[in-house]
Order: sequence, then structure tokens, then C-alpha cells
Amino acid sequence: MNHNITLLKGDGIGPEITDSVIKIIKSTGVEIAWDEHLAGQEAYLKYGEVLPNETLDSIKKNKVVLKAPITTPIGKGFASVNVQLRRYFDLFANVRPSKNLPNIKTPFDNVDLVIIRENTEDIYAGIENKIDENTIHGIKLATKNGCTRICDYAFQYAIKNKRKEVAVVTKANISKLADGMFLSCFREVAKKYPEINTREILVDNLCMQLVVNPSQFDVLVMPNLYGDIVSDLCAGLVGGLGIAYSSNVGKYKEENFAIFEAVHGSAPDIAGKNIANPTGLLRSAIEMLKYIDENEAASKIEKALFEVFKEGKLLTPDLGGKATTEEFTNEIIQKIKSN
Ligand code: NAI
Repeated sequence: MNHNITLLKGDGIGPEITDSVIKIIKSTGVEIAWDEHLAGQEAYLKYGEVLPNETLDSIKKNKVVLKAPITTPIGKGFASVNVQLRRYFDLFANVRPSKNLPNIKTPFDNVDLVIIRENTEDIYAGIENKIDENTIHGIKLATKNGCTRICDYAFQYAIKNKRKEVAVVTKANISKLADGMFLSCFREVAKKYPEINTREILVDNLCMQLVVNPSQFDVLVMPNLYGDIVSDLCAGLVGGLGIAYSSNVGKYKEENFAIFEAVHGSAPDIAGKNIANPTGLLRSAIEMLKYIDENEAASKIEKALFEVFKEGKLLTPDLGGKATTEEFTNEIIQKIKSN
């Protein structure tokens, strides 16, 4: 079966890790017609827009996207393309698993948790007003619909993936209205799922608990900003940003849409050096293959990836190895072909 998938290669290390992932997918024999488009700085230079109509039309047509990181200017310039895409297609759930990989030594052995991050509200709504030269108001947006649907998604995810507990993470002692509503929506939704255990935890305590005993957590649902920060922390618990992956899912005009991307950014400090770790994007692509029912190809890649980690001979520098992106990629392809 041939699949049409929109491909955004991003910038920084984006093009290098995308090329690696495409080569690996191709080696499984899955037929994908990649519909490549621009977004971000490069799109701006070509079309005068960071998210041109060509790109949006391709996503509307294909409904599935593999996306590499895109640089967002800090404190000035255009609004994050990543956030714009999530909001445009109403991809309200950002699923970010953290689980130990074979042979990657970290202080913890039994991390197996999933962050379900609300993806369209909170301060990411980008509502900031300049009151005067010395005063800015930044709005933390929360809607009952937004809070309810992400909590509901977390419980459904827990059931589908045979998880036992969903914990809600807020700062409802301080943000009594916005986070207070997130919490009350969680409690309401939880009544529908008596088979799943629940837990309530404040985000500051969560951070402390995570770096002391992360294996106590299962599924965690939280507002956008906490999800962003805590998921980087969780990536660190299992080996760093190079291996962390995510899916953004939701419905646009009643149809399912999904964007699969690594958790990390464009890593300008190592761009173009052939040392970036493609694992984060590759694991996102594995989730994408499962999503389009190419389960055999997904398992083949996962098996090969785990074997390469288990052997530990050809890892990229972020994981303490000396391999280049290309050597790591070729080793995975070799394993796929010989399995
Ligand atoms: P970053 O995630 O790009 O890099 C943080 C550190 O992790 C750097 O030392 C980098 O070298 C390392 N790292 C990240 N990914 C790696 C990989 N695959 N292999 C090896 N090492 C890796 O975060 P930073 O520097 O804060 O952000 C850079 C740019 O990326 C910013 O413009 C930011 O807005 C953007 N960004 C984009 C995202 C997206 O497109 N979804 C997500 C996060 C940030």
C-alpha cells in the first residue's frame, strides 16, 4: 500500500536526521510518497510566509506529517511554527513517552511513563498585551472544553495501552482559576473510568519526585507549559533529548490528523556536523508507521534500533559514543536487512 505523507525537514539538524529516518524507513520496503514542503525560516525566504499555503494544503490532503525541528527566534521574530501547526489543525494532544533504552546507563532503570501534554492552550495561545513600557500581561488560556478533552484523551490512552494510573499535574494552589479548572475537569472525567487509578500532584513536587523516584509514575496529564518543561526533564531521565519522541494528535474538520516529531529542537550547536542523533525522529516515525497500520515495518525498525543500542558499539556522541549520524543509520539498516 502506498501512503502519502507530508514531510517537513525543518532546519538546523532537521535535514540530516530526516534523511537518516527516510533511508531507514525505505529499507523496510514500506512505500511512502513523501510530499516535501517548507516551513519556518526557509519558507519565509521563498514565500514570504513561515507557514505557506502550499504546506498547509499538503497537510490538509495527507492528514499525516513527519516533521523535523524548526527554529523559533527567541524573544522576537515570528511565532513558533510548531505551535502554529498544532493550533491550526487543533492537535490538542501531545503524547511523549519516556522509557529506558537497552544499554543506556542512567541513574534509573525502571522509567516507563507517558506525558500527555495539552497542546493548544495555556500561555502557548500567545496572548500577550503590552500595557505600558514596563508592564506586560501574558494570558494563560484555559477552556472547559480544552481541559476536558485532554483529560479524557489521557484516560483513553491509559486504557488502550493497558496502563494503570493517570496523574493530573497542575499548580492549582496558585493558578486557582485556570489550573483549578484543569483539575476539576480531570476529576469529572475520571468518574467515567473507574478502572483507572488517579492521582493529583503539583508540578513542583512532581519535578522533585521525578528526579528521585521516576518509576512511581505511569500516565501524566498536564497543561501545555508544564508538559513542555517536564517532558524535557523526563527525556533526561532516560538518556537525553536525542532519543525522545512524540505524536501530536487531534481532529481538523471532523477528520483525524497527526504530526509526528522528535521532542528536541533544531540543535544549531551541532547542525551540519553529521553527529546528530536521529533516534528521536526515528521513534516518532515508528509511531507514525503504527498510526498508518504499517506495524510490521514499525516492529522491524524498533527491533533493529534496540539491537544497535544493546550492542552499544555505534552510538552518537550525545549518548557517549563516537559514531556519526550516517554510521548509526547504516548500522540500523544493516540490522533490518539481516533480521
Ligand atoms: P535543542 O533541543 O535544539 O537542543 C538542546 C541541546 O540538546 C543541545 O545541546 C543540542 O545539541 C542537544 N540535542 C538536541 N537534539 C539532539 C539530537 N537529536 N542529537 C544530539 N543532540 C541533540 O534546544 P534549544 O537549543 O533550546 O533550541 C534550538 C531551537 O529549536 C530553538 O529555536 C527552539 O525554539 C527550537 N525548538 C523547536 C522544536 C520543534 O521544532 N518541535 C522543539 C524545541 C525547540
